[in-house]
Amino acid sequence: MNNCSYNNGAVSIKTSKETSSCIIVIFGVTGDLAHKKIIPALYKLFTMGLLNEKTRIVGIGRRKYSDMEYSEYINSALEKLTAAPGGSPTGDFLKINSYHEADFTDSAEYPDIREYLKKLAARYKICDFLYYLSTPPANFEQIITSIHASGLSRPDFLDVSCAGSFVRVVIEKPYGYDISSARALNEKVLSIFSEDQIYRIDHYLGKETVQNIMIFRFVNGIFEPIWNQKYIDNVQIKVFESEGIGGRANYFDRSGIIRDIIQNHSLQMLSLIAMEPSASTAPDAVRNEKLKVLQSIRPFDGNEAAKFLTAAQYSAGIIGGETVQAYNREKNIASDSVTETFAAIKLFIDNWRWAGVPFYLIAGKRMPERLTEVIVTFKPAPHMIFNSLCNMSESVSNRLVIRVQPDEGISLKIFCKRPGFETELQPVSMNFDYSGSFEASLPEAYERLILDALNGDATLFMRSDEIEAAWNYITPVLECLKNKKIELKNYAAGTPGPELCDFFGLNLC
Ligand code: BG6
Repeated sequence: MNNCSYNNGAVSIKTSKETSSCIIVIFGVTGDLAHKKIIPALYKLFTMGLLNEKTRIVGIGRRKYSDMEYSEYINSALEKLTAAPGGSPTGDFLKINSYHEADFTDSAEYPDIREYLKKLAARYKICDFLYYLSTPPANFEQIITSIHASGLSRPDFLDVSCAGSFVRVVIEKPYGYDISSARALNEKVLSIFSEDQIYRIDHYLGKETVQNIMIFRFVNGIFEPIWNQKYIDNVQIKVFESEGIGGRANYFDRSGIIRDIIQNHSLQMLSLIAMEPSASTAPDAVRNEKLKVLQSIRPFDGNEAAKFLTAAQYSAGIIGGETVQAYNREKNIASDSVTETFAAIKLFIDNWRWAGVPFYLIAGKRMPERLTEVIVTFKPAPHMIFNSLCNMSESVSNRLVIRVQPDEGISLKIFCKRPGFETELQPVSMNFDYSGSFEASLPEAYERLILDALNGDATLFMRSDEIEAAWNYITPVLECLKNKKIELKNYAAGTPGPELCDFFGLNLC
């Protein structure tokens, strides 16, 4: 149950939940994601006192590690956090961690895993389990099957009475490769777990600024009346990264930017921007509304592909003064790779609120800078009485920019009279930025999401039907690329895409 309290103008909405004692089992603990994100997030929750004191974390991986080596591995994942001013020593955290060497792709190893977990559970009197699948996606189905076959999917494998306990599974992205594989994965997972036990991660939903989209829209009543096709001209959702593909060549080359970013992060942001107010903040109330948005996207028309899709790959260029090589010269990438590292998609949401409003989803690697933002451009005033505005080079439209990262904040571009005797107008910005308004630093997305999974709150996780609706829209886009219905363009690394932001007749920068 929620309750609100007011404190000097701040309203806090508290939820009466308590993290229960739990064994968190990380499959693929030696992988990049666990090292960079999951272990640090758990550590932060631990140091903030947000993990129940009985919580235990078990890493499962194929590497051989002695206890000492595993502690060193955990410490190496926490280097940045513990070196920062105020960073805590890791000793107590190490005590709640342990490692079990196992090939999680081999079902024959699961009885051993079960025995290990059983002993740990008995020792600490724990009945709840959170299985975190942080492995390559190709292993998801098989791990779920083996968890079930070895009895780990139900707490009765502990042979003690565990009334009211839970078993939950967190599944990383990418969830599926296209609509048919996503459906097959859903079928498999749902044949073993019920929807409320499944937490499909899109870490963008855990970002503070992405969560704030709903607060911004549904708490500040002034925006709702103008949040529709009558007043909004277009919406852009940009996810730009200056990074290339790092050490993930094999994954990325099979995926491309549309699968990696647009199918999940961009479409999830789109659904929050375009959804109707939900009846409550209950997970399904919110997800029902997001789903309706995804289901209302006009299907991609492959016969008019060039009007709705631009895809490109980066060639060599300069970013931050440094020369970077072309995508097809990166380590482990074939010189004839046709994987897109940039894409711009124009789409429409066919419902009353958004009829006729173009949404642009743009994402790219090796862009000039890291920048994720949502730009809502309003229609100009219906009749202009100031002639001087006719000479202005830029369009006289108000723009609301929700800056997701970095320099998180929100700004509104309005037009003002420049002081003086002439009527000269100038665009200015009304700004809110997190760093100026709040002292606390923004929590990492994974901290919030892991905490929610432990608390059984699935609001910020993707439901099976949302995933399928997103793939339903994206799969024809991918087929169009695969069948070479549009030309794969080229852009120099460090530039904002192949046409320097001029897509579909609109400058999108
Ligand atoms: C991941 C993608 O989901 O998101 C990566 O697989 C991408 O390719 C990353 O770099 C971006 O996340 P963030 O939080 O740094 O914007």
